[in-house]
Amino acid sequence: MTETLDQLRNDFLANVEAAEDLAALEELRVSALGKKGGISKQMQGLGKLPPEERKKAGQELNAVKTAVAEAIESKKLALEEAVLDARLAEEAIDVSLPIRPETEGRLHPITQTIDEAIAILGEMGFAVAEGPEIEDDFHNFTALNIPPEHPARQMHDTFYLPKKENGSRMMLRTHTSPVQIRTMLSEEPPLRIIAPGRTYRCDSDMTHTPMFHQIEGLVVDKSTHFGHLKGCLLNFMSAFFEVDDLPLRFRPSFFPFTEPSAEADIGCSREGGELKIGGSGDWMEILGCGMVHPNVLRACDIDPEEYQGFAFGLGVERMAMLKYGIPDLRTFFDGDLRWLKHYGFVPLEAPSLVRGLS
Ligand code: DAH
Repeated sequence: MTETLDQLRNDFLANVEAAEDLAALEELRVSALGKKGGISKQMQGLGKLPPEERKKAGQELNAVKTAVAEAIESKKLALEEAVLDARLAEEAIDVSLPIRPETEGRLHPITQTIDEAIAILGEMGFAVAEGPEIEDDFHNFTALNIPPEHPARQMHDTFYLPKKENGSRMMLRTHTSPVQIRTMLSEEPPLRIIAPGRTYRCDSDMTHTPMFHQIEGLVVDKSTHFGHLKGCLLNFMSAFFEVDDLPLRFRPSFFPFTEPSAEADIGCSREGGELKIGGSGDWMEILGCGMVHPNVLRACDIDPEEYQGFAFGLGVERMAMLKYGIPDLRTFFDGDLRWLKHYGFVPLEAPSLVRGLS
């Protein structure tokens, strides 16, 4: 008995070792340990042995079974690893190869515009902050001095998610301003951040799409004043539109989260139906801004007696349309490759103030 068992064990182990792939190994497993396999058959044969031999033979057989099962398992791991290695080798990409000149992929003008804004404002000391696109009421509204029932909530055409058990509803953020709140709650002033990202409103026509992009700006420091806001916007706009001496004006406006609030216009001219940024004679509304409302600072545990701030929010699509002469908002989201080829940007030429923006 012992001899045949040894034989059986050695045969199986040798076969396991020789198995060339996972399929062969599985076949072997079935032939050894499966219901009708060699070892199982031996197990069934135990019943025919006299009781005094049965126990010892059973133990020996079990040891063989365990040895074979373990050998199969470790061979399986080795084969799987070999399969993975082969796949990795086959799919390897040499990232150091130069880009092929005939590459057709282009960066979307939205991506380019955000990258340009980051290049300019980054140089001015702003860090990029991010927040979730699914927001709660506190960050999107209440902490921004827009309490429940405030009429500004209606103006936002909010997409709400289904009510939760406690009656509250999450929403798709209607602006990037909640990132102001998240930043002020998680970091100590002085703060200087921009927050580019997607925003959503239930609105769709020639000049509105349900998803669009904004860039939020926020500065909080001990002596921040409106002059800093104007200087910052002037620098940013003239760098972005690549126009020296860009005229900039403020018009009084209202936003619940800023006081005073303003809309900023930049100078432009329209000659022969062609819009030129930087000319004089006409104005183009470009963003909303203001000094951070004391209630907003308070909601974020910042003492408005000690700190002041300014904030601004601008529409990325609008900036891109103005700078690159893209006439129709909705084409941004058509996914038309011909459009992208025309208006898109060559990848890997990251905008920089030194090398040029676009
Ligand atoms: N959150 C505003 C909107 O979506 C834009 C805005 C206006 C942002 C003024 C600001 C600001 O930070 O100061 O319409």
